[in-house]
Amino acid sequence: MQTAMTAELRHMNDLPGPRPWPLAGNLPQMRPLRIHQDVEAWSKQYGPLFTIRFGRTPIMVISDHELVSTVLRDRPDGFRRPAITAIISNEMGGRPGVFLAEGAAWRDQRRMVMAALAPHAVKAYFPSLVSVAQRLQKRWQQAACDGSVIDLAEDLKRYSVDIIAGLAFGTEVNTIDGGEDVIQRHMDVVLPAVARRSIALVPYWRYIKLPQDRHLDTSLAALNKSVDELIAAARARLAAEPARRERPANLLEAMICAADEGGSGVDDAVVAGNVTTMLLAGEDTTSNTLAWMLYLLQQNPAAMQKAREEVQRVAPNPRAFTIEQMDGLDYLDACAQEAMRLKPVAPFLPLEALRDTVVSDVQVPKGGLIWCVMRNDSVSDAHVPNAADFKPERWLQQGEQAISKHVSMPFGAGVRTCPGRYLALLEIKLASAMLLSSFTIHSIDTATGAAPEELMGFTMSPIGLQMRLRHY
Ligand code: HEM
Repeated sequence: MQTAMTAELRHMNDLPGPRPWPLAGNLPQMRPLRIHQDVEAWSKQYGPLFTIRFGRTPIMVISDHELVSTVLRDRPDGFRRPAITAIISNEMGGRPGVFLAEGAAWRDQRRMVMAALAPHAVKAYFPSLVSVAQRLQKRWQQAACDGSVIDLAEDLKRYSVDIIAGLAFGTEVNTIDGGEDVIQRHMDVVLPAVARRSIALVPYWRYIKLPQDRHLDTSLAALNKSVDELIAAARARLAAEPARRERPANLLEAMICAADEGGSGVDDAVVAGNVTTMLLAGEDTTSNTLAWMLYLLQQNPAAMQKAREEVQRVAPNPRAFTIEQMDGLDYLDACAQEAMRLKPVAPFLPLEALRDTVVSDVQVPKGGLIWCVMRNDSVSDAHVPNAADFKPERWLQQGEQAISKHVSMPFGAGVRTCPGRYLALLEIKLASAMLLSSFTIHSIDTATGAAPEELMGFTMSPIGLQMRLRHY
């Protein structure tokens, strides 16, 4: 942490910020589905350090990227994810997973998850990824023949659900062809409830259960039961074919193998928690990043042309895609980085101080809450030349011209940085290469032609993007 002379230190309550309402604080001034934009707008007004209030609780907002990076890197000892989210997940009966774990439990789980998501492990899953991409290709071929409109976010969500759910469960999941994924249906009930309860002013559900709370209980029980059954089935497969342990074919098997290693500190309840965590962390993030990237490419014909040329040169045939081809798609990788700079699907990260500390010249007490704004400097001309422009080339420049290292941190930073980034980028390149090698894009737009609005649900998604395709 940065330090300053004690005499010069300010307190969180001394910082500027929007005037709070009595009792409710600044919550009534924030739109739940646009909360990221409200805080970004205040950052422009109040500067890189200011305070907002949820009820009476002060939260220090940081938007300077160097400071954000310093705070994110001061983990696991200095900061944690806010305890309230883990408390709410626990009281709902959620299983422990790496995203909400802390201390020794986090270290053990992180080791297991990293083993399952390491590039060499992900390479073993590549054939399953390609078969999902080919399924999406077939669906889009039909749409191109019919001249029908594709709901882009919806189709990409099916793609990412089929990939992550398939990998996490070790069984084929096919929502692209209209199959239902029961676990997904329950997740769609559970996730918004955790988000809603994390910022609720009054925890009424501890005293009275409304119909939505009973619905949530039912979904959670069903979710836990299904995951237990999947783990039992995976264990039975590993027992019947011990050779699978050498080269686990999916995330679930990889996690079970890592858990079974001596001294792993991890049992089946933790494996179960992390199966669900993979779905939670790996679906909307990837599909929304893809949707934003394809939209931005379509808006920038020169970049689209370069991306298409790269695909035609490096990976022209979806039936023959290889992992080496995907690793060679440097321009598409840069397109993804550029899309995440402008449209980070996690536009803020909340933290809680684990001890009394100092951030810049501000004293933060143990338990003090921090809101890291991830999109401020990354879209400012002061840090990125012509910051509003979509220019993937900036990610390929070296030396003086190279974009500054921490200005855009879409996967977070420090020891808790996203362990799924290699898989996510692979999925993104795979779907885009399939699209660009097989189709001419007629349009990617909203119904009115206006830029898509940003909706902050569990992640930041574009509203109402429609795609029209023609065969190549
Ligand atoms: C483009 C897609 C993705 C984006 C933008 C993204 C972004 C993030 C961010 C910002 C964090 C928090 C990092 C921090 O606190 O410093 C995170 C954590 C995490 N992500 Fe991702 N993610 C993506 C895809 C995935 C995928 C595909 C998986 C797994 C299948 C995944 C698994 C996780 C897990 C398990 C964590 C928690 C790590 C920990 O707390 O130690 N993510 N991700």
